[in-house]
Amino acid sequence: MRIRVAPLLGLLLSTMDVRADDSAALAKAQSIPYPAVIAHRGASFDAPESTAAAYLLARELGADYLELDLQRSRDNVLVVVHDDVLARTSDVASRFPGRAGRPVSDFTLAELKALDAGSWFNQAYPQRARASFAGQQILTLDEVIDIAEGNPERQPGLYIETKVPKQFPGIERQLKARLQARGWLDRPGRVILQTFDRDSLALLHQEMPQVPKILLLWVGKGSIEPKSGQDFADSGEQDKARFYARQAPKDREELLRWLDAAKAGGAIGTGPSAQRSRLGEQSYTDLIQPWMNQASHARGLLVHAYTLDDREDFAKAMDAGVDGIFTNRAGALLRFYQRPAVADEGQVLQALGF
Ligand code: G3P
Ligand code: CA
Repeated sequence: MRIRVAPLLGLLLSTMDVRADDSAALAKAQSIPYPAVIAHRGASFDAPESTAAAYLLARELGADYLELDLQRSRDNVLVVVHDDVLARTSDVASRFPGRAGRPVSDFTLAELKALDAGSWFNQAYPQRARASFAGQQILTLDEVIDIAEGNPERQPGLYIETKVPKQFPGIERQLKARLQARGWLDRPGRVILQTFDRDSLALLHQEMPQVPKILLLWVGKGSIEPKSGQDFADSGEQDKARFYARQAPKDREELLRWLDAAKAGGAIGTGPSAQRSRLGEQSYTDLIQPWMNQASHARGLLVHAYTLDDREDFAKAMDAGVDGIFTNRAGALLRFYQRPAVADEGQVLQALGF
């Protein structure tokens, strides 16, 4: 028996190596680092998300990509904000009383720039607070590009999500115009476009066929149909992460339909949600099970999972076969991949003047 196990194990390991080689080759063909370190809203564990502090820190740590969520101001400027509304990550409630529930698109750039997008972080995470975060501003796309270009020795790419794109007709074309004007469309692998919205994927592909695109995957309304048929609001569950942890695609075919749609829509990969071992914020439904990743790879699609921050979860995700990870802790992921981060986050922030 033992004599048979060794060759079988060898065969299994060599098959796994071949699969990893295939994924690495897929990434290489697109000039995408493998495995990729995607700084989710910047280095947003250690600095207020989507601000200069978070993006400068991610750049200096050595992240491959600065991840950003694209929206548009009332006066048509592309801005970088995750939530539909500004209440969680700014002082909009006190600065513009009565407008805290209004969408980002209700505010001019000057109004957005008047907001303090840093102090909320100090209140929410006192153990990581810095007085210098107070007054951090909401950024335009151009300002994030300036940061990405700002250090010749550290040149991260941009991983751009069209957020709630139905609220922003024409945003795909507008994005193309800005990237073109800044010379970013001629840099293979330096820009990746991402969206949950299949219509936006089609528009992005129409506008920028040569730029790699990722279809983000999610179980719930407007995305993969859940087996439970429920959404959070009618589930009776109090804890979102626990609710998401119980969710799964309706069946295998439903997941495969979405992978096929990604491929047919011109994506070079998928961005599936992942569950965190400790649940909590940003822990979602587990869509990175090995069979799911294998099904993506079988279609020639890369897998970039969102959003993991702990070593244990990095290891599980890599074992399951993902090709890159969105993380709020780019430094931790670089260290996990045994890629040297220049220094620890505190030292980098200090050197940056925070
Ligand atoms: O873009 C990948 C991931 O960021 C999707 O989730 O809600 O953090 O934008 P979200
Ligand atoms: Ca995003």
